[in-house]
Amino acid sequence: MAKSGGRSESTSLRTLPALPAPPDDALLPPLFICGFRPSRRLRTLFSGCRGKGHVSSPRKGDPGQRLFLTPYIETGKLEEGRQLSLVPPFPGWNLTSYSGYITVNKTYNSNIFFWFFPAKIEPQNAPVVLWLQGGPGGSSMFGLFVEHGPYIVSKNMTLFARDFPWTITFSMLYVDNPVGTGFSFTDHVHGYAIDEDDVARNLYSALIQFFELFSDYRDNDFYVTGESYAGKYVPAIAHYIHILNPVTTMKINLKGVALGDAYFDPKSIIEGYPSFLFQIGLLDEQEKKYFQKQCNDCVKFIRQEKWLQAFELLDRLLDGGLISEPSYFQNVTGCSNYYNLLLCTEPEDQGYYGKFLSLPHVRQAIHVGNQTFSDGAKVEKYLREDTVKSVKPWLTEIMNNYKVLIYNGQLDVIVAASLTERSLMAMDWKGSQKYKKAGKKVWKILKSDPEVAGYVRQVGNFCQISQLLFMICFDVITAFEMQDVFVLTSLNQQLHTCQDATFIKFSSE
Ligand SMILES: *[C@@H]1O[C@H](CO)[C@@H](O)[C@H](O)[C@H]1NC(C)=O
Ligand SMILES: *[C@@H]1O[C@H](CO)[C@@H](O)[C@H](O)[C@H]1NC(C)=O
Ligand SMILES: *[C@@H]1O[C@H](CO)[C@@H](O)[C@H](O)[C@H]1NC(C)=O
Ligand SMILES: *[C@@H]1O[C@H](CO)[C@@H](O)[C@H](O)[C@H]1NC(C)=O
Ligand SMILES: *[C@@H]1O[C@H](CO)[C@@H](O)[C@H](O)[C@H]1NC(C)=O
Repeated sequence: MAKSGGRSESTSLRTLPALPAPPDDALLPPLFICGFRPSRRLRTLFSGCRGKGHVSSPRKGDPGQRLFLTPYIETGKLEEGRQLSLVPPFPGWNLTSYSGYITVNKTYNSNIFFWFFPAKIEPQNAPVVLWLQGGPGGSSMFGLFVEHGPYIVSKNMTLFARDFPWTITFSMLYVDNPVGTGFSFTDHVHGYAIDEDDVARNLYSALIQFFELFSDYRDNDFYVTGESYAGKYVPAIAHYIHILNPVTTMKINLKGVALGDAYFDPKSIIEGYPSFLFQIGLLDEQEKKYFQKQCNDCVKFIRQEKWLQAFELLDRLLDGGLISEPSYFQNVTGCSNYYNLLLCTEPEDQGYYGKFLSLPHVRQAIHVGNQTFSDGAKVEKYLREDTVKSVKPWLTEIMNNYKVLIYNGQLDVIVAASLTERSLMAMDWKGSQKYKKAGKKVWKILKSDPEVAGYVRQVGNFCQISQLLFMICFDVITAFEMQDVFVLTSLNQQLHTCQDATFIKFSSE
């Protein structure tokens, strides 16, 4: 595996039985979810380590049928629905999990795909953690297989157990969000989300139904987490829950949120790009001037609420997602990857899971049938205007009422630690004054470690971590620990602060 593949080398890989040899590649549609891609197209800006790729259909073989659970939920056939959603063991896969579709909008036949992994340790008490990938249009299957799920897919489709998956201490709910992303789909153009209200409404419907189906988990603590463009989804759904909880009978036990490399306030980030990219040496003086001018114009459009103009300008400048030529950033840096400043292209091994998800026996097991695995391009298209809008007011409300963890990888370019700091400095929440004065602390996993893991700053229920070395999402072990830190803080009375909690190193025994 490539060195960049996120600790895959340092993890002691407990090999599971190999899967049957995959069919000849030549027969297969191209699917490079996060790997090298033949073209620079089909990228999206804020995926956080991706989750985008080419459209894929299943390979030869019987992929089974899609499982729609809403009819079982609505008729109270909950036990039957749960049993049907159980993912059966298949070669290389031996683990209890549940998956299927929840219908969130009948008018447009919009369906959300989920894959739920009850915690390995004390599932009856473990927090339920929703994971949302960025994009827009990035599948959470990326988070599951590349970042923190129980298995890592290798090139020949063999599965390896990840040493520190989040599924050990948390019941993880991976959801392809919004509809049109990954395995989630809608039958109508009006089914696609055009703003965060649409995103939140659909996701909320999925969550309410999920907790009806899996009612044993309803009273457990619930956290919403995600990275990059999910920096918008997470506050959106958390705020939606916050508003609806007092007025509905079905409550969701929201305790907090965690955001990685979070793109929640575009304006403050865009303003920070020119000098940041110059300081890390990706732009020279002259290019910086051009970038500055473009970013100024973009911010002007944002102030005037000319969302489409702002999006188009940013797309030409940085992303090139919806234009037919390389972006300015790609032209002047020669790089297609902006998720780690030490890697110019995306690591190949981040794309293996896409091929895995096209295997018929896998599709059969996870109840997606022949449903096309969407590349997210349509989702991005419909959310165009949304990409430059801020969710700062919602996040403010969440920071005032719940636990919030915001973490960054120090090598990310697109939502760099310093850019997040800009966004946070621009926030006005109950802890802002203290936050602006609070010093950061050096964070080591163990006190005796020579290595510094990162930096931590805490104000009340708010915790900010920036992590050294790798981009956050490649570094599953540390990322796991950060999440663990966050929730541990709440679970264990003796752990009052982030700083204390970081000295607890998780052991898989
Ligand atoms: C997984 O395999 C072990 C033996 O290796 C077995 O005891 C266990 O029941 C299996 N679990 C599932 C979910 O199939
Ligand atoms: C279905 O989606 C449309 C368009 O987003 C929305 O207007 C309508 O309220 C949705 N229906 C439900 C039941 O959520
Ligand atoms: C698949 O690759 C892994 C290393 O990535 C290796 O350990 C394993 O033996 C290979 N399995 C097969 C069937 O080739
Ligand atoms: C990038 O370079 C190509 C080839 O020279 C050019 O066609 C394109 O317009 C450039 N992109 C931008 C956004 O300037
Ligand atoms: C999936 O299978 C059904 C019949 O089982 C067929 O009608 C449909 O066209 C297929 N869809 C795709 C995307 O292949």
